[in-house]
Formats: sequence, structure tokens, C-alpha cells
Amino acid sequence: MTQWHRVAGCADVTDDTPVGALVEGVPVALFSVEGEYYALHDLCTHGAARLSEGFVENGCIECPLHQGLFDLKTGSPRSAPVVEPVRTYPVRVVDGHIEVCLQEKYQS
Ligand code: FES
Repeated sequence: MTQWHRVAGCADVTDDTPVGALVEGVPVALFSVEGEYYALHDLCTHGAARLSEGFVENGCIECPLHQGLFDLKTGSPRSAPVVEPVRTYPVRVVDGHIEVCLQEKYQS
């Protein structure tokens, strides 16, 4: 059975303001782009930087440390120096709150 974790209120996550949170001990970054929400593992695959402290632009998150880009939908690397994808987590909205699923095998 899919287990969802309530992380933040929708109003807390705006296009300009990502939110980082620990969910069951897992660092998760929440992003908003034009009404859609995305959740990524909140650690750059290139170094010790929190993606929730980066900048959202053109559907990507720019790492605050070396400015590598990740696609918010897929977690794929989009710009050097990042080459490894970052994990994404399924997201849903319930009662004005953003919930994420941390399970490896998510089934909608
Ligand atoms: S730590 Fe993120 S690009 Fe280097």
C-alpha cells in the first residue's frame, strides 16, 4: 500500500520559494512551477548542496554550489557539472497540502 507523507502547505511552496524538509529522515525538496508541484531528493548528486536552496528556472533547479541544473520533472541532469540524476518522489495534493511518497516502488 502506498504511504504518503504530508510535507508542507501548498501556500508555503511558490515558484520562487522551494521548501526543504526532512521526511522520515529523508531530505526532500519541494518545488512549484506554474501550479505543478515536484519533489526531489534534497541533495545534489555532485556535492554537498541542498537543492531546496537553489534557484528555479525554466523547469529546472540550479544547484546553489556549482550551478548544475536538474530537470524538476525527471531529476535528469541538464547542465554541467552534474552528470548523475537526482531521485524524484511522487507528489499529490490533499486538502491544500503537498504529500510525497518515499517508497521505491510507487504505484498510482
Ligand atoms: S554540488 Fe551541486 S553542482 Fe556541484
